Amino acid sequence: MEKKRVLSGMQPSGRLHLGNLLGALENWKKLQDKYDCFYFIADWHALSTSYEDTHEIKDNIFNVAVDWLASGIDPEKSTIFLQSLIHEHAVLHLLLSMITPVPWLERNPTYKEKQQEIKDRDLTTYGFLGYPILQAADIIIYKANCVPVGIDQLPHLELTREIVRRFHFIYKKEVFIEPESLISEVPKLPGLDNRKMSKSYGNAIFLSDPPDVVVRKLRTMITDPQRVKRSDPGNPEVCTVFTFHKIFSSAKEVAEVYTGCTTAGIGCTDCKLMMARNLNDYMKPIYEKRKELAGNPKKINEIIHEGSKKARKIAQQTLAEVNETMGLS
Ligand code: TRP
Ligand code: SF4
Repeated sequence: MEKKRVLSGMQPSGRLHLGNLLGALENWKKLQDKYDCFYFIADWHALSTSYEDTHEIKDNIFNVAVDWLASGIDPEKSTIFLQSLIHEHAVLHLLLSMITPVPWLERNPTYKEKQQEIKDRDLTTYGFLGYPILQAADIIIYKANCVPVGIDQLPHLELTREIVRRFHFIYKKEVFIEPESLISEVPKLPGLDNRKMSKSYGNAIFLSDPPDVVVRKLRTMITDPQRVKRSDPGNPEVCTVFTFHKIFSSAKEVAEVYTGCTTAGIGCTDCKLMMARNLNDYMKPIYEKRKELAGNPKKINEIIHEGSKKARKIAQQTLAEVNETMGLS
């Protein structure tokens, strides 16, 4: 039996952090053996909000590709590609835009939220409104069965399914597949200040952070605010360091920390150092591989172009079918 197809994309927003790794990449990595996986860097999507300032986009694409590969996204198993190298996405986006009612886009919750959140840029553009149509094109041009995404992306996926149904209804031919979302249960990883880990909050630990930077950042991590003096017993359940211990330390150490903290047997500095050691053990192979890959841009370039070639073939086939179905061939 043929493997089902998985597709997902990420905007090239710069170097990736631990939140991206645990929230997406670890899951993408697991899917590689069971599915025919397509992973792409959504550089056109990045333009929907950063159209004025594009000087970093090239570096960002490179860094995201390096982070993926270092995290174990394997070009032997998965097709890794760059959106803007596959012009067929743009053509399908245009064709789908003809059949997509504007109110469907306007009532998309992400559209409204982001417009309110991002105040420093003008997001009244057509491209920003049409963001989900481009995303729909990304997915259905490969006839992907499953799309691993975070819950924030569910409205986009639902819209994709609606567009597929409308296309099939109008042109009386089932060209596409209605994709399913693949939501994975992942441990929520807070940032250094216990808010969601995010590049823009300045609370992130990056995959490219060297071990000493990781230690330095962890020193600033927020702990139980009630534990003021070393002799005060603490409450690990409200402590960000403990959340990290639960993810990166052994069960034995987690138990030790719990007891140590609640009896004031261990100080926060030692607790953090222990945590930093375990985190660095986990990050070390990724960090080393990342360094090696970053020194070989030619190889990265090759991997992206190879993957894009494979992706393009499929995208061309689907677009030919679409043209035929719409009477354009
Ligand atoms: N919108 C997604 C995000 O911001 C990125 C994305 C673009 C995507 N096209 C996609 C994700 C297709 C899944 C499938 O995270
Ligand atoms: Fe947090 Fe550890 Fe300090 Fe307890 S001892 S408050 S778990 S850093």
